[in-house]
Amino acid sequence: MAQREASHLSQAAQHVSLVRPYSVRLTPDNLQLVLQHCSGGTLESYCKQHRVSEDLACFFFHQLVAVLEHLHSSKIAYRDMKLQNVLLRSKPSRSSPPRLVLCDLGTAKAWTGQQMRCETFVGTPGFMAPQVLASMFNGLNTPRTDASSDSSQHSRTSQSSSNTYDARKADIWALGALLHYMLHRQLPYGYDSFAPLLPPQEALLTLLQLENQHTWKDAAGAHGLQPISAEAQDLLDQLLHQDEQQRISIRRIKLHPWFNRPLPAHGCASSSSA
Ligand SMILES: Nc1ncnc2c1ncn2[C@@H]1O[C@H](COP(=O)(O)OP(=O)(O)O)[C@@H](O)[C@H]1O
Ligand SMILES: [Mg+2]
Repeated sequence: MAQREASHLSQAAQHVSLVRPYSVRLTPDNLQLVLQHCSGGTLESYCKQHRVSEDLACFFFHQLVAVLEHLHSSKIAYRDMKLQNVLLRSKPSRSSPPRLVLCDLGTAKAWTGQQMRCETFVGTPGFMAPQVLASMFNGLNTPRTDASSDSSQHSRTSQSSSNTYDARKADIWALGALLHYMLHRQLPYGYDSFAPLLPPQEALLTLLQLENQHTWKDAAGAHGLQPISAEAQDLLDQLLHQDEQQRISIRRIKLHPWFNRPLPAHGCASSSSA
């Protein structure tokens, strides 16, 4: 895993929001990757401790879009975009808004040519696009999974080769799930509420059915989530679009009105304790 991560980090040139590799060490037991230390904790712990305003969410989202665009233009699909893989470079302070760093390229995949089609069930439930979830169940009569807990990361090759998905568009869906969490303090479709109550494979199948049959907004209404601005709703509609071909591209995200909302000149350190 460290070898794969080191290779992706060297393929993608350095980026301010991508964890910086310092050195690779080969010991008698393993290969060690020494990385920049990010002392501010994960975005998950930040969101649990602070209220994230739309301005701050937009400030974070800009950084995530930039690093994802950087990886995709380096022909690397990230494949595990989630709150736990986004770190705060330093401890949050009142004077400056947090800077984010994406870590963990252990499940990233490089591609050659124009297409980035995958058939592997990889990523983290709750952040998975319907096409990735479907890769779990394709060709099987009964749903099967290696899932051991609802929040753990999964990687498994689909038993069907006929159904592939665009890994870049799967990254975009996961970015949408992350934005949904920042704005609503919940993953889309109430996954974090129902998954702990179900066996892992049933939770995945339930999520797949919800993603295929309902929009995130239907689910948000059913869970009584707080309203957000019309522009944020429209962007979530496009990030969490079931059809990967119609799901928004990074180029179009950058043109979206919510992405281009004016942010306070003094920065976005407007988050208060939750
Ligand atoms: N460069 C880093 N600086 C600080 N904490 C880190 C760093 N890299 C990882 N961590 C912490 O370790 C956790 C797991 O690391 P990660 O690279 O995501 O490995 P994996 O998910 O494969 O176990 C992260 O969620 C984060 O809390
Ligand atoms: Mg991780």
